[in-house]
Amino acid sequence: MISKTPSLIRLSKSCLSEAEKHAVMAVLDSEFLGMGEEVKLFEQELSAFLGRPVACVVNGTAALHLTLQACGIGRGDEVLVQSLTYVASFQAISATGATPVPCDIDPETLTLDWRDAEKRITPRTKAVMPVHYSGGVGKLDEIYHFAKSCGLRTIEDAAHAFGTKYHGQLVGSFGDIACFSFDGIKNITSGEGGCIVSNDEEVMSRVRDARLLGVEKDTEKRFQGQRSWDFDVTAQGWRYHMSDIMAAIGRVQLQRFPELAAKRQKLARYYDRKLSQLSFVTPLAHNYQEVVPHIYPIRLTDGTSRTSLRQDLLDFGIQTGLHYQPNHCLSFFAPSPNYKLPVTDRVYPTLMTLPLHPDLSTEQIGLICDRLSKLLKT
Ligand SMILES: Cc1ncc(COP(=O)(O)O)c(C=O)c1O
Repeated sequence: MISKTPSLIRLSKSCLSEAEKHAVMAVLDSEFLGMGEEVKLFEQELSAFLGRPVACVVNGTAALHLTLQACGIGRGDEVLVQSLTYVASFQAISATGATPVPCDIDPETLTLDWRDAEKRITPRTKAVMPVHYSGGVGKLDEIYHFAKSCGLRTIEDAAHAFGTKYHGQLVGSFGDIACFSFDGIKNITSGEGGCIVSNDEEVMSRVRDARLLGVEKDTEKRFQGQRSWDFDVTAQGWRYHMSDIMAAIGRVQLQRFPELAAKRQKLARYYDRKLSQLSFVTPLAHNYQEVVPHIYPIRLTDGTSRTSLRQDLLDFGIQTGLHYQPNHCLSFFAPSPNYKLPVTDRVYPTLMTLPLHPDLSTEQIGLICDRLSKLLKT
């Protein structure tokens, strides 16, 4: 008999300090909760970190939606995207009227297989959306080369990859356009939230207007503490701006990022070491000098029933996750009933995500790995 753990080990959680609470209280005390000084400062600080212009929005899905729209993508267009991603990537594309075209993945990195994507190009294809699954970017330089040679825009879904480096450069500091999510459990959070990063000033200008219902130059007014009373609207807009409450949380998290990132990296390395002793479990092969992991997925290589394993772990107080149900299997996005993506179809049933967040301890990881080891041997 193995004794049960006294409390639940959560799959993910927000990790907040007193500083975030003080920052929120200061905004509440100011009696201005909308988009103002805090959002302006958060954008400036993110921009200094990433070395490029940044626009903050209400969440990562909105960041992708606005970016696609700002690139002129809409009805009749197609966007290549890996099927193994959160449904947010697909919904953001379909929100523009365009069609998300589900593509297969590289079996090692679980990121977009551009060779598969290449086969799916049609005259309607306008963009490719690589998803930085779990925080790693795969062979991003090959994807950029592919996109360039096919005349496609590259919109990086970098929701998982805040702080990750590729060849020593921060994701978002190079390339076409990157979109981050700052939801409650991401590498940094602003409660909900997200941002768009690009050197393309035309795209950024459209994004800034479209996040504020299309009201031209409303961002400038709000950053001066003013409102627009006399304005024009020339394009579809959305109520997608970030609030000062969110930005206040995000600013503290950005300051704490070195500490938060180091914890995620240390914990993932510890998992790697412990799991290397289990022959039936394969983690993703990330270089945690560069990758800041958002999640810690593993592959079960011996045909173990994922469902019963997850239940057994939960009975022991360990939450797990599934990242993600492939989108080509969802009724709304399935291009046809027998649409096949051989790697995704083979890999997804073997995937399971173990707990990872900065408040997790190495002792808890030891417990998770011991429990996994015992369950997989019985
Ligand atoms: C891969 C991916 N893309 C986009 C999003 C959307 O971000 P948000 O939840 O901030 O809208 C998420 C959120 O989890 C995600 O995992």
